[in-house]
Amino acid sequence: MTEKEKKEVTEVSEAQIAVHWQEEGYYYPSPKFIAQANMTDETIYDRFSLDNFPNCFKEYADLLDWYKYWDEILDTSDAPCYKWFRGGLINASYNCVDRHLEKNGNKTAIHFVPELEEEKTDHVTYQELWVRVNEFAALLQDYCGLKAGDRVTLHMPMSAELPITMLALARLGVIHSQVFGGFSGKSAADRIVDSGSEYLITMDAYYRGGKLLDHKIKADEAFETAAEQGQNVKKVLIWQRYGGKYSAETPLVEGRDVIVNDLLKNYYGKRVDPVPMPAEAPLFLMYTSGTTGKPKGCQHGTGGYLAYAAGTSKYVQDIHPEDVYWCMADIGWITGHSYIVYGPLALCASTVIYEGIPNYPDAGRCWRIAQDLNVNIFHTAPTAIRALRKIGPDEPAKYNYDFKHMTTVGEPIEPEVWKWYYKVVGKGKAAIVDTWWQTETGGFLCSTIPAVKPMKPGSAGPGMPGIHPVVYDDEGHEVPPGQGIAGNICIQNPWPGMFQTIWGDRDRFVSQYFERYCKNPDSKDWRDWPYLTGDAAVVAEDGYVRILGRIDDVINVSGHRLGTKELESAALVVPEVAEAAVVPVKHDIKGVEPDMFIALKPGFEASEALAKKINDALITEIGPIAKARKVWIVPDMPKTRSGKIMRRILAAISNGTDVGDTMTLANPEVVEAIQKMASEG
Ligand code: WT7
Repeated sequence: MTEKEKKEVTEVSEAQIAVHWQEEGYYYPSPKFIAQANMTDETIYDRFSLDNFPNCFKEYADLLDWYKYWDEILDTSDAPCYKWFRGGLINASYNCVDRHLEKNGNKTAIHFVPELEEEKTDHVTYQELWVRVNEFAALLQDYCGLKAGDRVTLHMPMSAELPITMLALARLGVIHSQVFGGFSGKSAADRIVDSGSEYLITMDAYYRGGKLLDHKIKADEAFETAAEQGQNVKKVLIWQRYGGKYSAETPLVEGRDVIVNDLLKNYYGKRVDPVPMPAEAPLFLMYTSGTTGKPKGCQHGTGGYLAYAAGTSKYVQDIHPEDVYWCMADIGWITGHSYIVYGPLALCASTVIYEGIPNYPDAGRCWRIAQDLNVNIFHTAPTAIRALRKIGPDEPAKYNYDFKHMTTVGEPIEPEVWKWYYKVVGKGKAAIVDTWWQTETGGFLCSTIPAVKPMKPGSAGPGMPGIHPVVYDDEGHEVPPGQGIAGNICIQNPWPGMFQTIWGDRDRFVSQYFERYCKNPDSKDWRDWPYLTGDAAVVAEDGYVRILGRIDDVINVSGHRLGTKELESAALVVPEVAEAAVVPVKHDIKGVEPDMFIALKPGFEASEALAKKINDALITEIGPIAKARKVWIVPDMPKTRSGKIMRRILAAISNGTDVGDTMTLANPEVVEAIQKMASEG
């Protein structure tokens, strides 16, 4: 980042800035790639210009099958809560499964790859997927009495049963809320309570790093915590992991826990017609971290979301029905929803679901999977690319796979790392897209259409067709492209994939994402409601966007969002803790990781054991992903005269950068004391 760019970034964000590189030159895709690409027509950007908004998005809606075609493409009468494709009736499960049967019933829909190499890969055809989705939908309808509009929380690991569960619920119009399997039972409980779920669907166990993890135990914790908060889960439905024998040590609770695999036998051969749902009916909730402690349930609609997932999968991911596509994200994140499940299945591709970690049992595993399944589209995050590069820089060359296309997502990618991805993983042949987006946005905001726009390492690319980014400074003035000045990146217009609201909290939706640059709060015109992404960005002359990082209190660890308040609240669960402040620290592989600063209540002493207890609390409250690099128990927090903790100073100490002027603090002496601690490790 240049000094000029830096100047524009606010105090909080400075510590979060991940990008320290400059513009790079272009790379072009091969003629071979272009010859087969789904989208090669440069006029797509004109077709999706603001002048043609919102009608341009008809092109995406027409990738889907509708029971009843929509009447109005965009209803803004409740702006900024928009309704896309109003009047339309559609079912997501039908679009991802049933409609492919006639031509492609025998084609593989899902390749489930267990982590243990001695276990066979499960190849689920579209026909088989249809059968399994129907049977499970019958169970959900009959045994659970679930119906359209109900919410169900899923806390499942990577498995074929996860999309089967999502699609069975979607078939009935039931709203699914999948919680990342690595999250704690307590995190699942918060989401059960917020969504008002009466059923929890989970799995007994799964493999990770060669170990069989008991996952069922988390369901007990989720159940109890939710009950304490007044939400009564009626049944816990437990899938047995691939292989179909119960493999958790935690015993079943009688009357509450049900083994799906057993119960399902009563539903063999049963069929359930997909329920035609209004286009704007919610399809799922996906919780994400924000500036307060409570995760937000981003509510995604059926028609708009699915149209956007399908359209972007077709044009950006370049998915054709004959492709074998592997996105290494977890289905518990939005990336997995849009780009493992809904997008690829809507397009009738074969999608790979891998249970485990990329380097188990060795650094060649990913490339072996790619070779064995003939994967030709590969999708992952910089954190994984950095790790694979570190542990096996020469591994890809040993395997015989052929990627035509690769994606990076979740955080900025260093040009050096990008070049390794391009030359070594992609063998110089694959087109790369860097895709910038968010849980809230349902699909890509900025990227390149790979056969139309060249790649530029370290830049996400221009706004997607139909997505019109704008950068504002803190006063709300537009920062024109090509000035090298950073600002708050917003999107001028709504789009079909965007979330509809925060579940049960419209006010928070409006205040957090729209208030800041709203031109008229009474307006029903979308032009008055720019969407605030929460990221800082610089736009180059050519319209390519470099995302610098978050400007709010969100830390992006390995491409996953953790709210600072969420982390701090977890630390405060430990009774000795008086105050907690978390800051991001640069990390080679993860991008950043959290450093936790703690001030104790009077009468308590700092100790290694206490620091560990605090770190353990982060893991049990949130999950292993929240583990701090270091817990610093400090004599006091550096504070302004008005009592605000100066996280910027803590971040500078953790990152070994200049703390700047501390004379305006109420307690400057404490900075020196903390610096001394840090230098002693
Ligand atoms: C935040 C959203 C996108 C789905 C997975 C993460 C950062 C995301 C990029 C990228 C630079 C990126 C942003 C964004 N981010 N993609 N390609 N380049 N930064 O979804 O957990 O909702 O996080 O991740 O800061 O706001 P999420």
